This record gives sequence, C-alpha cells and structure tokens, in this order.
Amino acid sequence: MRRPLVAGNWKMNGSRELTRGLVAEIGADLPNDCGVDVVVCPPYVYLDMCSNLLESQSIALGAQDLDTHGPGAFTGAIAADMLLDVDCRFVIVGHSERRSLYGESDERVAEKAAVAAERGLIPIVCVGETQEEREDGVTEEVVHRQLDAVIRGAGIKIFPQALVAYEPVWAIGTGLTATAQQAQEVHQLIREQLSDASAEVARDTRVLYGGSVKPDNALGLFTQPDIDGGLIGGASLKAADFLGIIKAAIS
Ligand code: 13P
Repeated sequence: MRRPLVAGNWKMNGSRELTRGLVAEIGADLPNDCGVDVVVCPPYVYLDMCSNLLESQSIALGAQDLDTHGPGAFTGAIAADMLLDVDCRFVIVGHSERRSLYGESDERVAEKAAVAAERGLIPIVCVGETQEEREDGVTEEVVHRQLDAVIRGAGIKIFPQALVAYEPVWAIGTGLTATAQQAQEVHQLIREQLSDASAEVARDTRVLYGGSVKPDNALGLFTQPDIDGGLIGGASLKAADFLGIIKAAIS
C-alpha cells in the first residue's frame, strides 16, 4: 500500500510571522499518526526556523529547489548538504515555475533529482503540460518526455523513494482543477511508464496531483486509484484549507 502524502509548496510567500502561525495551527489540529505523510516546503530563508518549530511534530520539511553543485563558490545557490543540515527530507525539483521562469531543461531537472537522491533527500519530481500543449493533444508526449529524462538521467533506482507530482500548468494557481478523471488518466500513464522500467517501482512510487487542489475537490482526486496525495500551493498557506486537504487524504 502506498501511504498518502500531502505537501504544501509555499512558493515565494511567507514571513517569520506567517511561518510561526501556520506551523502552530497545522500542528495543533493534525491528528497524531494520521496515516498521511505531511510535508511543508517554505522558502529557503524560513527552513531553519521551520525546522525548529517542527521539532515535536509529525510534519516533515521540504525545500522548493536545490543546486547540483557542492558547497563552494556558487553565489546565491543552496546545496543539498545545506538542506540536510536544516533537517529537510524532501526537495521539489522541476516545478513548472522553475522550468518556465528560470529556464530549467528536462536534463537539468534530472540532474537535480539525481543529486538530491544521491545526497539522501527525497525528490518530488514535477511534470505537467501547459494549456497549449493540452489543446494540441500532446499531454501524454510532454509528460512522458519530462519523466523519461529523469528516469534516464537519474536512474529508475531513485524511485520509489522519489515521488512524481503531476501538475498541469493550466491548473496551477488558476482555480481550474483537472477533473478527477483527467488527472487519473495522466497518473495512470505515469505509472505505466514507471512500469516499463520496473513493475515493483511502479507499484510503490507515490504520484501526487497538484493544481488548484482545495478542501472541496481533494477527496474526488485522492480517491482515484493512481493518485496518492497532493502538492498544494495556495491552499497550503491557510491552515484550515491545508488541514481540510490532509483530512481528505486520510479518508
Ligand atoms: P496551486 O495549488 O496554488 O494551484 O499550486 C499548485 C502548485 O504549483 C504546487 O506546487
């Protein structure tokens, strides 16, 4: 059985005050041993603070990105070992915003996934098509290409420890959620692709859905056979919404 996982990607949002409040509110209402892995991914500068706040809680910490270089003369970059040093267990790689705004190629994403896994972090590998690509009927091709680059570049061996997150770009921050059926279709293709490399890996790898997940649509998504939880943006910044989504993953 794949244990559900719900991760909050705060993106470039937050402050010390929001971090303190959000962690306290989520922690206070999160049932103990709820059967769902819960992860928060704040901006780099709040990671250490979050790590201290999370000490007595069953919430794990994740980063939103990493650099592939080791520590050294790489101004502005953050190394995997630094993330480990502040108790990060997870790291998002290949988010569509990194791909589109910062020019990250499929190969670069694969490199990041490889370094993260090698250093002992759990990569959450994001894939997903744009609106235009969906309209052009190339969703399957795009998602396949993005995941294939990671399987070839980092190796199938990084899974099932690593996760995949299917995030259709047109659903991110738009309020346009993929229907449960649209999401399930792509999740199933992802699992089939993993299965081409290893049936065992395909069975055990968690595939998250991300894109306008809210408490009222989470249950429909999470009850699909190949959807194992969510990567949550906007709704992860409101404790009540994030908790509502976690509860949908419990049921
Ligand atoms: P929203 O939940 O705000 O659509 O963002 C999804 C996302 O990009 C999570 O990584």
